[in-house]
Parts: sequence; C-alpha cells; structure tokens
Amino acid sequence: MAKPALQFTCTACGAAHSKWAGRCDACGAWNTLVEEAPLTAGPAAKSLGAARGRPVALSGLSSIEPEPPRAAAGLAEFDRVLGGGLVPASAILVGGDPGIGKSTLLLQAAARFARNGLGCIYISGEEAGAQVRMRAARLGLADAPLRLGTDTNLRNILTTLEAEKPDLAILDSIQTLWSDRVDSAPGSVAQVRAAAHELVSFAKRHGTAVMLVGHVTKDGQIAGPRVVEHMVDTVLYFEGERGHPFRILRSVKNRFGPADEIGVFEMTGQGLAQVANPSALFLSDRGTPAPGAAVFAGIEGTRPVLTEIQALVAPSPLGTPRRTVVGLDAGRLATTLAVLEARCGIPFAGLDVFLNVAGGLKISEPAADLAVAAALLSAREDAALPADCVLFGEISLSGALRPVGQTENRLKEALKLGFSQAIAPARSRLGGPTGLTVRQMPDLTAFVGEIFGA
Ligand code: TYD
Ligand code: MG
Repeated sequence: MAKPALQFTCTACGAAHSKWAGRCDACGAWNTLVEEAPLTAGPAAKSLGAARGRPVALSGLSSIEPEPPRAAAGLAEFDRVLGGGLVPASAILVGGDPGIGKSTLLLQAAARFARNGLGCIYISGEEAGAQVRMRAARLGLADAPLRLGTDTNLRNILTTLEAEKPDLAILDSIQTLWSDRVDSAPGSVAQVRAAAHELVSFAKRHGTAVMLVGHVTKDGQIAGPRVVEHMVDTVLYFEGERGHPFRILRSVKNRFGPADEIGVFEMTGQGLAQVANPSALFLSDRGTPAPGAAVFAGIEGTRPVLTEIQALVAPSPLGTPRRTVVGLDAGRLATTLAVLEARCGIPFAGLDVFLNVAGGLKISEPAADLAVAAALLSAREDAALPADCVLFGEISLSGALRPVGQTENRLKEALKLGFSQAIAPARSRLGGPTGLTVRQMPDLTAFVGEIFGA
C-alpha cells in the first residue's frame, strides 16, 4: 500500500500544504506550518438505516418552525450578538486573546441561562473545579443551578454529555481537549478539528447547543480558533485592549442572525458589566475640542455607535514617513491620504501620520472615510473641528462623497447624545426633519473649503 503523503497544516488558518514553508501562502502567517499525521481511512461507514440520508421534499418540511425557538440569557448584550438568543442544537465558537475574559463572560452567561431554566454544563479543561467555583463566587453566581465538569478527554466528555443531556454545554477551551482516536498532541490542528467535529455532531444529534472557547494563539504550535470557524454555526470574537476595561463581543459569522453585531462590556471587579449605551462610553472622555479629533457616526451591526477618530500629523525625521493605524484599515488610510493629495492638493509627504479609534473599537465601515479625512485635515491644519459636529460618508477615488446607509439612525443617535450639527454626503436620505443642522457636501474639495477655508 502506498505510504500516505505527509501533510503540513497552518495552525493559524488551517490551510493544508504538501510542502513545508516558512510562510503560509493562504493567510501569510510566518512559522505556523506544522506536520500533521496524514488522514487515514477509518472503518467503512455503516448504513444508518433506510430512512437516514434520504432526501425529502422541501415543501414536506412544513412541521419545522420557520424561526427556531431561542433561549435568552437575559444578558441583553450577549443575546443580541447571538441574534436574539441561543438556538438549540447550534455550535458557537467564542474566540479571543488569552486573558481577555472569555471564561468570565461564558460563566456569567451560563449562570443566567441556568437561572432561566436551561440545563447548562460548563466543562473546564484549564481550571480546577475549585478555581471555577471561586470565580463564580466572586461574580456572585455561586448559587446558580449550573453543573461544572473538569475534563480534557473527549470520550469522557461526550459520555458525560450523553448522560446529562444538557440544553447548553460550554467547553473551555477547545485547545485543551484531546481525542484518543487522533495520534497527535492536544492543541494540534488535528486534535482541535477532531474535538470540534465530534462536539458539533453531538450538538446536531442531541439538540444541545455547544459553545467552544478558542484562544487566539500567537505561536505556531497551538492551533487557533480559525481552524474550526467553518465547522460551527456562529463565530464570536471577544476583543479589547489590555489595560482598557472595555470589551467588545463581535459576531463575524452567524447562521441564525446578523453578522457584525457587537455587544459592549466593561471588565469590573465583579466580572463583566453590560454597557447599554456604547456611544456615551466611547465619547465619555472627550474634553475640550482638540485638533485632530473627529466624531464619526457609525453603525455597528444593527446599532448606531458614535466614536471619536483621532489623528496626529507631525514632521517626520524618516525618509519614509510613518503611517500608524489602530482600529481602522491601513489600506483605507493610504487611500484617503492619496485622495486628499491628488484631488484637494493637500500633501502629506514628509509627515508622520498616526490614526486611532478611541475606546478600542475596530471600524470596518467605509462610511468612516469622511471622519478620517476630517481628523487628518484638522491635525494637519492644527484647527479643531466644531465640538458639536458628527461626520459620516464614503470618499470615492474621484474625491466625491457617496451617501451611506442608515443616515436617519446615525443622525438620531447624534441628536440623542447632544450633537447639533452633522456633515454628510450630498443626496443623503434624511427622511424628514432631523433636529440637527445637516450640511450636505458633494465632494471633499467642498468640505475642505467650507470647514478649513482653503
Ligand atoms: P478570563 O475570563 O480568565 O480570560 P480568558 O478565559 O479569556 O483567558 O479573564 C481573565 C482576566 O479578567 C484576568 O486578567 C482578571 C480579569 N477579571 C477581572 O478583572 N474581574 C473579574 O471579576 C474576573 C473574574 C476577571
Ligand atoms: Mg479562560
């Protein structure tokens, strides 16, 4: 029999390669390729009975409810990110950096679910039972009707779950689990995939919702959560800056709800507290208007969120000036700078540019372009923008401002937070009186002329 060919798998993205290389072609990560045991054929699959696997007419499925019943944790920020609550038999991956607060969040959510009558099991492969209990006590959850397990052997865990038949099982973390059917170390791509596969198929067969915790890993030895993203129904990432109390739970994939929804939390001494009004939080430490700050009226998922975009522009001692971006795409900064230079004649050559979104939020909306341009110009000209003004709009390569979606919601949020004027692209759909002075501008040149008098 031919010897199965060796296979190298990227621990960051799971791509398979036939040869080792220093850099993964698929995701560009360095030093993440590891040798994996080649897949061997298992025992021949047994027939599951005549009715299994046979296609049925779609119209014959009328007994299935159009919208699955959802269980709410009563933790509004968490439920919204799930798309309105927990769907039975769904598999959810919660990824995030180590120490960001995943265990804390899931313990709190599990306790709420359990108090609402759901059968919940929290299985920790990282902490001892006493440690989990101590944490629960500190969070004021010691009396929640939650069952705890500490195990890393997948076979034991599946046996326990089969006996207990919970509505929700939380596995913390997927990298600590190991299956005795796979011949590699815990945390390897093969083990992580095997564990996720078995748990997901358990969820589908028994109607149990499973939540898998996955640490985002920096070194190539341990597989990251991206390796199992395609196997689960919902992928959530828990993000935040170390040393910053704010944490953002973001859905990047959701079969049962909108993607890109966010829930905002604050890490306190008693665990994670919900932040119901993120705009107020992100703008809370705004002092007197400073040059380089612009307030962007954005939309995160289904909610409007106002954030401050901060820019610093300074003469550069370097041959190639620095471009540093936090919370925004570096490519979009480069585009905005190029448009300012080519269409408005405002050069940034020889100047270092630093751009930052306050509060640790990551913005991916093109609607942020105008606020980014405004912050850059304000920093360059050393002139503050009006303090009571929000901005939004996409900048095209010609320098024109393009209207963006949900204009009304953006303006409503701005009004609610005490802003009195807005700068928006021409032809934005305002939908009636807004209560704000809305200045609509056709292009970037008009904007520069009006605001900076150039
Ligand atoms: P944890 O949930 O253990 O992180 P993860 O599971 O993602 O690795 O959270 C660890 C951090 O959270 C730790 O640095 C301490 C902090 N923390 C608080 O500030 N308050 C709390 O009430 C708890 C439980 C944790
Ligand atoms: Mg943890």
